[in-house]
Amino acid sequence: MISDELRKAREFEAHYGPFIPDDQRPAFHLTPTIGWMNDPNGFSLYQGEYHLFYQYHPYSTEWNSMHWGHVKTRDFLHWERLPAALAPDMEYDKNGCFSGSAVELPDGRQLLVYTGVRQIREENGELRDCQTQCVAIGDGVDYDKWPANPVLTAKELPAGGSPVDFRDPKVWREPDGTYRLVVGNRTPDGSGAVLLYESANGTDWSLVGTIDASHSQYGLMWECPDFFPLDGKQVLLVSPQDMSPIGLEFHAGNGTVCLIGSYDREHNRFEREAVQAVDYGIDFYAPQTLSTPDGRRIMIGWMQNWNTIGGKPRACRWFGQMSIPRELSIRDGRLIQTPVRELEKYRQNKVTYWNVLVSSETTLRGIRGRMIDMTVTVRPAGKELYRSFTVNMAKNGEYVTTIRYKPDTNILKLDRTRSGSNADIVHTRSLLVRPRDGELKLRIILDRFSVEVFVNDGEQAVSAAIYTRQEASAVSFGTAGSVLIDVEKYDIVID
Ligand code: FRU
Repeated sequence: MISDELRKAREFEAHYGPFIPDDQRPAFHLTPTIGWMNDPNGFSLYQGEYHLFYQYHPYSTEWNSMHWGHVKTRDFLHWERLPAALAPDMEYDKNGCFSGSAVELPDGRQLLVYTGVRQIREENGELRDCQTQCVAIGDGVDYDKWPANPVLTAKELPAGGSPVDFRDPKVWREPDGTYRLVVGNRTPDGSGAVLLYESANGTDWSLVGTIDASHSQYGLMWECPDFFPLDGKQVLLVSPQDMSPIGLEFHAGNGTVCLIGSYDREHNRFEREAVQAVDYGIDFYAPQTLSTPDGRRIMIGWMQNWNTIGGKPRACRWFGQMSIPRELSIRDGRLIQTPVRELEKYRQNKVTYWNVLVSSETTLRGIRGRMIDMTVTVRPAGKELYRSFTVNMAKNGEYVTTIRYKPDTNILKLDRTRSGSNADIVHTRSLLVRPRDGELKLRIILDRFSVEVFVNDGEQAVSAAIYTRQEASAVSFGTAGSVLIDVEKYDIVID
């Protein structure tokens, strides 16, 4: 049964979505049908196709009363739009269907698990959230909310767990056919934790215990956890709020943290071995992963950050986009991310250069464009170390987005100060990179409204939204000192 709220959202998006011209959207990064989008939800395989839902407010480009938008794909680059899947239409979720996840049931139906938010007026007049976990079951288009919702409430929290910040369940099916989920929570010290629950059927849940907690070290509330095995290790992803900066690894505010360790399932003991940022750029948050039948673990994130949402272009009818889906692996104890291999099918017009000497601003014939996949490798031209090397892109007389590397400090800096935004928000981000034998390799994926840089074959990822007008499409290379570069560039042509 479709509620009035959901019907209204579906009618609205079906009517107004087509008013957004295709060339005013990214070519292969997902944007909402219309209005506002934040976190990826329910990223999972269902009946041979990959489904992706997203936090959605169709009626404006502001965050408000959360719905779930819905798309599916076979190649992670073409997204088929489906009608909105969930609306806040029940007493227990009337203030929002917050983030969650999905899994296919053995009978061929799809189970969604999400956070229902209901606001309660406190005695002192303040409104506070009551967050519970809810389920909905459907056929890949229409979903029925479970009559016994909510399925997880404050009663199933560990002692001292916060009923206000209890959200973002990520569910999966175990090899033995049972289900597990991780969910974000707050401990009595006010900082974040990830709880684990188990279920025989996907609807009746009980607490197993706590997987890990921030202890105020990596931010406060831990949002949007994900927990999965990868290359012999166990990975816990969290998106903490209110982080304090730690060197160039973690910036202040909302961040993404990857904890790599080992997991003893029997005793529910997760031992951390390494902690790192997931993405070192400006816009990336709340990632979620799925596993594919061919054994890949693929992650997609919201290519935006709560701290920069003020940078929204005025006339736009959509706001928020997803990152390119990324294949994950572990190499030398670090999380490696590379754009999904499906992207290679859409690469055309290969242009390559080897050993080009760059000692002043240089353009290379055929190296330009706004929907490109370009790898640049830089090394010193002689014995003397260069002082800096810069890739300028999305460039004309007015605009430019730059990545600058300084080998004496190993700092790489992304700068989108002149990338179409007039908002006074963060426009630069610096990170420490690790050159190999004096070489640094940058794979740059540009779409109409974003840049994603994968450093040294995916050792670090750096993402940012840009709003530069499309005619700014030049690429040039600059240097202080002399370098030798190799460039391999493709246009990405999505039909
Ligand atoms: C993360 C988040 C989630 C929440 C959702 C609400 O970006 O704050 O914790 O479920 O967004 O839209």
